[in-house]
Amino acid sequence: MPDWNDDAARDLMSLGGRLALLTRGEGSWVWDADENRYLDFLGGIAVNCLGHAHPVFVDAVSRQAATLSHVSNYFASPAQLELAARLKRLAGTGEQGRVYLANSGAEANETAVKLARLHGNRFAESEGRSRSTILVVEGAFHGRTMGTLSLTPKAAYRDPFQPALPDVITVERSVAGLEQAFAREGIAALIVEPIQGEAGVVELPAGFLARARELSVEHQALLILDEVQTGSGRTGEWFTFQREGITPDAVTVAKSIGAGFPLGAMITFGAASELFYPGTHNSTFGGNPLASAVANAVLGYIESENLLANVTARGAQLREGVRSLPLVGGTTGAGLLIGIRLTAPVAAEVRAAAHERGLIVNAPTADVIRIAPAYTIGDAEVEEFLSRFRAALAAVAETLPAPTATTLTEAPA
Ligand SMILES: Cc1ncc(COP(=O)(O)O)c(C=O)c1O
Repeated sequence: MPDWNDDAARDLMSLGGRLALLTRGEGSWVWDADENRYLDFLGGIAVNCLGHAHPVFVDAVSRQAATLSHVSNYFASPAQLELAARLKRLAGTGEQGRVYLANSGAEANETAVKLARLHGNRFAESEGRSRSTILVVEGAFHGRTMGTLSLTPKAAYRDPFQPALPDVITVERSVAGLEQAFAREGIAALIVEPIQGEAGVVELPAGFLARARELSVEHQALLILDEVQTGSGRTGEWFTFQREGITPDAVTVAKSIGAGFPLGAMITFGAASELFYPGTHNSTFGGNPLASAVANAVLGYIESENLLANVTARGAQLREGVRSLPLVGGTTGAGLLIGIRLTAPVAAEVRAAAHERGLIVNAPTADVIRIAPAYTIGDAEVEEFLSRFRAALAAVAETLPAPTATTLTEAPA
């Protein structure tokens, strides 16, 4: 039988190795072509919020596919209208909010970049030139399209594709850094993730978002939150900003919103809702009936089953559970977006050891393991995770030099 790795190497764009050939999933479990079973605690990187093959997801896809799957954006569909109204309600935009439906996180953020341009260009007359500067935060990840890549400071991602968009300034991840950045002229917008998932589940310093809101109002700049990874309930609130007591001008979402169906959205608040006008933006697939119906079913189920309470409770249970495991130095994140900080730069080894033990997690940085399991997990999944993760950590700890291993296996303070 031909090796799937050979097929992948021959036919797929060479963008990185694949860890296994996954063929099916159910709940929090996936199986590979050799029928090995894995507990999926990465969830397609914070996407599969109802796990795999959830009946609500399957039913929504099947029903809508059998009814009306796609229409051009010359037409509206009931599913699309329902989703837009639902997102406005969940985000708390009030009447003035507006929703743009896209197909991915990068596309939602690309729309946000255009929103910043429309806003900045309004100053051409009053200030003699447009405001073109977009502030981003060190460690940010906003996507891989040219616009969003320009907002992503990581050199390894950005450098091969220079030149990037001009006038993107990277702000130090501190309130002082933020204040210093806002001292400059011509700022159109600040775009920021409330928790930086790709940077290793890095939290913003206390008061950062509140100060960002104050400064952006003061300087008439937009505050745009990238909640592609943190939104749609992942952190235990519909949107993470709701815990911070602020209202942005726009928020972007994707990932969990479709539970595995590709979909993204930008939701605007207040006057920012008036910036786009006919002809300025659109997408063939964005907001099509199929994607919209799935998102309605997924968000409706999260709401009716009160899964956000489970996200918060299971998050706390997991944090508590990993605290005393070997090599664990602490945790970051909120709800079911958790960064497990290791006491040595062995995240890649731990990820591989977990994989060998039938557990899927990832290693966004050298010393962080990220987990983003389904919102539906219960005691059984938590216990299974802790048991497999403990074994993986112990195996890696054993390979470390003895004195270090002893120190590292002590319970964290
Ligand atoms: C915060 C954030 N923004 C944007 C993106 C890009 O989303 P997508 O891969 O759907 O284009 C990601 C993906 O990881 C993300 O975590």
